[in-house]
Amino acid sequence: MSTTGASKTLTPPDIAARKGNTPLVCLTAYTTPIARLVDPHCDVVLVGDSVGMVLHGLPSTLDVTLEMMIMHGQAVRRGLERALMVVDMPFGSYEEGPEQAFRNAARVMAETGCAAVKLEGGEAMAETIRFLAARGVPVMAHVGLTPQAVNIFGGYRVQGRGEDGERIRRDALAVAEADAFAVVLEKVPETLARRITGEIAIPTIGIGASPTCDGQVLVVDDMLGLFSDFRPKFVKRYAELGDAASSAITAYAHEVRERRFPAAEHVFGDVPATVKGGEAA
Ligand code: KIV
Repeated sequence: MSTTGASKTLTPPDIAARKGNTPLVCLTAYTTPIARLVDPHCDVVLVGDSVGMVLHGLPSTLDVTLEMMIMHGQAVRRGLERALMVVDMPFGSYEEGPEQAFRNAARVMAETGCAAVKLEGGEAMAETIRFLAARGVPVMAHVGLTPQAVNIFGGYRVQGRGEDGERIRRDALAVAEADAFAVVLEKVPETLARRITGEIAIPTIGIGASPTCDGQVLVVDDMLGLFSDFRPKFVKRYAELGDAASSAITAYAHEVRERRFPAAEHVFGDVPATVKGGEAA
């Protein structure tokens, strides 16, 4: 059931129209069950290329392929009713130029049923964003810390401190001008995110940015606390599911070794007296 009372699937224009309004709620999802869980509460569900690191154990997002994004996009699609689904364009699938970007974005849309794609980059991607938007591909842009450029930045550092803020500001202005319908601002100083949000006409969706952004996004596995060793400052853990899962698995292993699982209620027929009471005779 929707928490906002809306029942139709949200579209890119619906999201763009939320500029300056009630903040947009956005989470990642990579699978059908998680998509089903987040859909009633989210305006945008992002099939992020973070899937490479989160689900596939890759060291960065650079090895994520178009096929991986399509497979996870198809899984998420099956779990959504209300939220707008946005699928990330992986590294190497759009940077050569507008034609390559259109070819691959059209494939992602056709094969996953998503209504929009996300790509990383500001001024350098403006021409591509304009080309896609003019040809039926709504684009969510992504500026600031763009993880696919980790080797250029030399790590996952805050971008746009001090005078460098002007670079990020120009990036945000350029993608808005190029008809992106929204832009992710990742890991930038709060004052810069606030300034950009006030200056551009499209919604800003912050991650490590500012509460004044037009929306917020988090990686769902991070906010659910599924990892014990990954605690960036910008993630609030709303649950500790990793710890809960670890306790449950420990209990299961213990009960199997003690022959206490399966118990009588888990089997079809009687448990022999020799193993009743949890102890093998
Ligand atoms: O890949 C991803 O999950 C993202 C979000 C963190 C914005 O790009």
